[in-house]
Amino acid sequence: MENSAGVVVPLLDLDAQYRPIRDALIAALVRVADSQRFILGTEVEALERELAASLEVDHAIGVSSGTDALTVTMMALGIGPGAEVITPTYSFFATAGCVTRLGATPVFVDIDPVTFNLDPVAVARAISPRTRAIVPVHLFGLSADLDAIRDLARRAGVAVIEDAAQALGARYHGQPVGGIGTAGCFSFFPSKNLGAFGDGGLVVTNDADLAREVRLLRNHGAEPKYVHSRVGGNFRLDALQAAVLRVKAPHLETWAAGRRRNADRYRALVPELGLQHTIELPVEPDGYTHTYNQFVIRAPERDALRAHLAYRHVGTEIYYPVPFHQQACFATLGRGSDEFPVADRAAASSLALPIYAELTLTQQRHVVASIAGFYARRRR
Ligand SMILES: Cc1ncc(COP(=O)(O)O)c(C=O)c1O
Repeated sequence: MENSAGVVVPLLDLDAQYRPIRDALIAALVRVADSQRFILGTEVEALERELAASLEVDHAIGVSSGTDALTVTMMALGIGPGAEVITPTYSFFATAGCVTRLGATPVFVDIDPVTFNLDPVAVARAISPRTRAIVPVHLFGLSADLDAIRDLARRAGVAVIEDAAQALGARYHGQPVGGIGTAGCFSFFPSKNLGAFGDGGLVVTNDADLAREVRLLRNHGAEPKYVHSRVGGNFRLDALQAAVLRVKAPHLETWAAGRRRNADRYRALVPELGLQHTIELPVEPDGYTHTYNQFVIRAPERDALRAHLAYRHVGTEIYYPVPFHQQACFATLGRGSDEFPVADRAAASSLALPIYAELTLTQQRHVVASIAGFYARRRR
């Protein structure tokens, strides 16, 4: 029987990350509990300082989620009714959802067939006099083509908001992503490379005025307390999350190295098992440092393969089965499927394999052998 291997490979094993640092995490939680200071405060300020240094930016502002990082950044840039914001049609929902929430219009563009990221040629075609911002998403942990996008934005006089939710630690020509555009937005959702014990996010920028506005809007636009020059929201990060993130952040590089080693192992195992002409592996172009928040392959007969892998106790996920232009909530935008062939193909063939740092070689062999077993049987 195929399952006699007895190997189990979850898509993500947060427990494996947690156990070795459990004592430090519990100590941090106790520290906050003993302080009885839960909202913003010294833990959040320390995290902001530490992450600003590692991301090589002037300003880092802790917020309540990656979604809120995007929302508050757009609010701070004055994006609202009448404005258009260019986003890829292939991303997590928040990238476009927050544009609509602000009363602005998301303008979807297709992705690059190799990187899954925003296609600059399609962006150029989508720019209009109403465009206020372009949102390159560094999908799965690989930077978008930022030079091309920044160039287009500069000529159009619009902002670049990097959706770096999946890409903390990724680099573009040596520079950390997030601080390259007008602003960068990160998520600390537990499955991200730096994951909190709940929701959290971060806005980074080198623009002091924008940073001041984001800080103001993060806390209902109040300055001083109970005096409001703007309408913001409650987009605050809490101290417990900041304390957890401060324990985890120093491990980020080691964890990223583990993910990169695992990506290399897949790259070696796939041809070893004769799969190099059957499945496509993610790319890491020259000048880009991928963080492999996800390791997304493209596979024929993807849904049947996924069912087979589940049977073999291999966890997988589809990021993303439904591009924005096919979502019911965006139907009023009237964008047809024939406009986004690359995203549609990606949605039909992409499959995320386990890539977390603690994965063993035995587990990875099991994943690739299971994929090889599936296609061998199809060929019979
Ligand atoms: C590309 C992208 N943008 C935005 C977000 C939103 O982040 P959060 O879940 O922290 O709100 C996510 C997180 O899943 C994401 O992957």
